[in-house]
Parts: sequence; C-alpha cells; structure tokens
Amino acid sequence: MGFREYINKIDKEGLLRKVDLEVSKKLEISGILKAIEPIPVLFNNVKESEFRVVGNVFCTKDVISSYFGVTPADLIPMLSKAIDERSEPEIVANAPCQEVVETEVDLDKIPILFHCDKDGGNYISSAVVITRDPDYGQNLDFHRAMQYSKDKFAARIVKGRHFYKFLEKNGEVEVAFCIGNTPNILIAGATSVDIGVDELEIANALEPIKVVKANSVDLLIPAEAEFVLEGKVYFEERHAEGPFVDLTETLDIIREEPIFEVKKITHRKEAIWQALLPGALEHKILMGMPREPTIFNKVNATGVKCLDVNISPGGSSWLHAIVQIDKKTEEDGKKAIEGTFAGHTSCKHVFIVDKDINIYDPLAVEWSFATRFQGNTRMVIKDKEPGSSLDPSAEPGTKMTTKIGFDLTKPLVIKGKSFEIVEFPKVDVNKYF
Ligand SMILES: Cc1cc2nc3c(=O)[nH]c(=O)nc-3n(C[C@H](O)[C@H](O)[C@H](O)COP(=O)(O)O)c2cc1C
Repeated sequence: MGFREYINKIDKEGLLRKVDLEVSKKLEISGILKAIEPIPVLFNNVKESEFRVVGNVFCTKDVISSYFGVTPADLIPMLSKAIDERSEPEIVANAPCQEVVETEVDLDKIPILFHCDKDGGNYISSAVVITRDPDYGQNLDFHRAMQYSKDKFAARIVKGRHFYKFLEKNGEVEVAFCIGNTPNILIAGATSVDIGVDELEIANALEPIKVVKANSVDLLIPAEAEFVLEGKVYFEERHAEGPFVDLTETLDIIREEPIFEVKKITHRKEAIWQALLPGALEHKILMGMPREPTIFNKVNATGVKCLDVNISPGGSSWLHAIVQIDKKTEEDGKKAIEGTFAGHTSCKHVFIVDKDINIYDPLAVEWSFATRFQGNTRMVIKDKEPGSSLDPSAEPGTKMTTKIGFDLTKPLVIKGKSFEIVEFPKVDVNKYF
C-alpha cells in the first residue's frame, strides 16, 4: 500500500484528524502534532505552502503491526525474515512520485517545518535518503537536513553510517531524499545491515514495492513517495547544522556538516508532506524497533531462549532494552545481558525479565525490578565502554559510558516467599452495577 492510499484508508476509518484552519509551518504544526500525539493529523491549509502536511502517522508498534496485518509480537520475526529473504522490487517506467517535475528549485514553497524555537532552521526529518556507491551499490539511511537557502541543506551524517563511508570515499555523492513513505520503507531505511545491502530489497520483502529511476540522478527510488528531492551531497563543503532536537528530546549541538544541494524536485499531484517530530514517538519507534531483531538473535545465540524484546520509549528507544526470556538455568539472565549488549552496542541499561512479565507495561517491569532483583548478585556493571553519542550523560566527545545489566528474573529454586502475583477471584462485574 502506498503512503497516499494509507492516509485515505485511515481517513475512511475515522482514525485521521483534519485541520482546515490556516496553520503555519513555523512553530505551529509541530506544536499541534506534539499536543495530540500519537493521533495522525492532516493539515489541509498551510499558510506558507500550497501543499498539505500530515504527521504522527506511524507512532506506535500497534499502528505499524496493524499496517502489516500482524501483532506487535510478530514484528521481530517478520523483520528478521525480511533481512534474510530480501527480494528485488519491480522497476516501473512511470511513477506517482514523478507526476510533477518542478521547473525550478525553491525549497521555500515546500512546507518544511520549523519545529522548536531553538532550532537552527526548517528541518526535513522524515526523509529516507537513497545513495549509491560504484562498489557497494544502493543504500538507504535517514538523515535530518536543515534548510539554509532556497536550494541547500546541511545534512547530519553521523560518522560510520554507510552514506558517510560513500562520501568519504567519493567526495560527492548523488542523493534522493524521499518523503512520504510507508513502514516497510521507513523500517528498511532505519535498519543497519552489512554495507552493500540495498535496504529497498528489505522493504520489498516486508511488503512489495515498485521503484522508478530518479529524474536527474542515477538512483532507483520508491515509486509512491510523495516528494523526492534530488541532488548532490559534498563531503568537503560544509555548513553549520543545528541546533536540533535529537532522539533523547534534548537539544543537539551545532556541527559543520556536509552540504546537500537540491537540483531537482519531483512530487505527486497535490502532494502531502510527511512530518516526523524529532525525539517524539514516531522517531523513537523507527530508531529502536529495527535493533530489536539483532538483540533477539544475539540473545538466542548465547543459548538462552529469547521470547521478545522492547527497546522502550522511556529509554529514548535507544538506551534501554527490556528482554523477555524463558529461563532454564541460573546463568541465563547474565548470558542474556551479554547477548543484548552484543546486539545493540548503544544500549546502556538492559533489563532481563521472565516470561510472565509484560515487557510493554513499565509498571510490570518495575514490579519485577522491585520483587525479583538483588543488586549484589544480579547486576552486571561494565565500566567505561563505548555507548551512544546521543546520551547526554556519556563522556562528551568519546561517548564512553557505564553500562549496566539487571537480571530481574526470579530464581529457579525458591527458598522463601513466592514470586508469583496472586490472582483475585474472576467475577462478572456487570452483574453487580
Ligand atoms: C527518524 C530517524 C532519523 C534519523 N536521523 C539521522 C541523522 O540525522 N543522521 C544520521 O546519521 N543518522 C540518523 N538516523 C539513523 C540512521 O539513519 C539509521 O541508523 C540507519 O539505519 C543507518 O543505516 P546504515 O547502517 O545503512 O548506515 C535516523 C534514524 C531515524 C529512524
């Protein structure tokens, strides 16, 4: 299903709020979206642009799993399978994303949002960025980009990303920033797999897509995107980027980042701009969820049966992982802690729980922390390891941090009080009120 089709579908189902009042792309749309998160909103009348804006579209695991017609627990195996069984998308000659080819580039005509008052400029935050290297082929990434002129952005490209490697190697790289994507493409773009894997093949394995040759660059792009900004990114040419809100909801610093020069804009007729609030639920779910299968697989590789993983929004969907296991030996908790850190190196705190704990319920996890954990025997401390550059408490510059694993599982042999929650009698309350 294309992005437009999905928006029409949730509209018919009454799940989409619509704002017909005139709203500004500057500090207004972002405020409305945040205030009613996670409800999707379509803005029909944007003050500075002829185009509409939609946001909060894929904020929760429930929404994403129902998009695919599965349950949230099915997402990890589904994504693992798509990574293993990638398939090439169908190439088409004509595509909705090229219905309109703009004759001149003027980014001011597009509703690129100014999100929060300290931001360095208008920011694209939802774009799936497609690039190509002569040896490795195509790659998909996310890169926020700050608009600073009618045709230029400064794009945040973290060192180590595959696109960063392409840039370092080639000096300048053709790009397509594709906006208005469905979860198969969004999740594929957020997945870190081996360099050389075209993540569009992961997207296609999640749900078949069509791709088309971009208008002015040698790239295959999702045919159903709403907007495509084509051009070049230059490794040596830099511009100040930031401040901007990052995943932890704190303000990121200003850095000199590569310039993205937009040379061509194509879009669908009556295109809809996909907004994605930085640091908010949608950003979090897209960052954390693709790391869950890697944790799941690494924990299973230690010999411990992993049942489910939640990289929880309270931990910025990056720094905390709650891992549910089917405990068979007393060592399983500690083995699962090691597996989790191996599966997600940015993770700072890991919580291993038993199969009776709902890992999506923070109160249930805290309850197992309170009743099943002892700090002197069930905690693994890893002092000074490389963690996440996003963590404001990590050592600035080096991202060195202290990682802790908490084994919140109950002992297999119980000597004292029971570890089970006692159930109350089940009654039909309607009979009494
Ligand atoms: C919504 C969202 C925004 C992101 N923003 C950036 C960004 O601005 N810069 C960056 O380098 N990575 C960003 N990332 C992370 C990477 O794009 C992502 O981890 C990607 O999988 C890396 O792919 P690679 O392994 O092919 O390099 C973002 C991820 C998401 C989901």
